[in-house]
Amino acid sequence: MCGRGSRGWFTSAPEASPVPTTRTLGVLISGRGSNLAALIEAIGDGRLDARIGLVISNRPEAGGLEHARRAGIETLVLNHRDFTSRGDYDARLAQELRRRGVDLVCLAGFMRIVGPGLLDAFPGAVLNIHPSLLPAFPGVDAQRQALEHGVRISGATVHLVTPELDGGPIVVQSAVPVLDADTVESLTQRILVEEHRIYPEAVGIVLGGGWRIEGRRFVRPLAAAAR
Ligand code: GRF
Repeated sequence: MCGRGSRGWFTSAPEASPVPTTRTLGVLISGRGSNLAALIEAIGDGRLDARIGLVISNRPEAGGLEHARRAGIETLVLNHRDFTSRGDYDARLAQELRRRGVDLVCLAGFMRIVGPGLLDAFPGAVLNIHPSLLPAFPGVDAQRQALEHGVRISGATVHLVTPELDGGPIVVQSAVPVLDADTVESLTQRILVEEHRIYPEAVGIVLGGGWRIEGRRFVRPLAAAAR
């Protein structure tokens, strides 16, 4: 019997209560992959019950590929320039991820907008991390936007991905102060520390199931939300 969703997030044997099974992540990167490294670390030290089945980069030179290789994780480079349309690219991403039995897709510095070709293949199962307190400062250069706007607080957001750019339901946020002496680099670094903490946490929450979407809101089960 299968519980949540069609990909068998929970399985149960006859006469046994449902047992959570270790779910498979697919991680999409474009660059240095420090959030990928944070997920690998969280899995390694038991904070996150999951495995990473595949890391895909759209850039062959992405430094993050090395994190995956060192951890023995399969990697794949799919250069978007080799595809004639965004739809074809997204469909191929979905195909490769499904082939590895991926349950949840984590965008981790993936510098591509993903469309229906991927989102429809993984309904409610694509996460992104963004370096601002959304809905403030979506899009590129979020830390620079925050600094130039003069906000006193910024932070990091993990959200479900929808067709609206950086606009999906928010799973976890963490705030950091913006200091008078900050540069884009120093603010980026302070936010990054929080990114590395909340991405594994958010993945655990989403994999834990029992949540629902109400309007724009990601609502956790009461017992879990109290923790
Ligand atoms: C992070 O700041 C993330 O929030 C944003 O892109 C950056 C990726 O960094 N989406 P890394 O590749 O995970 O180090």
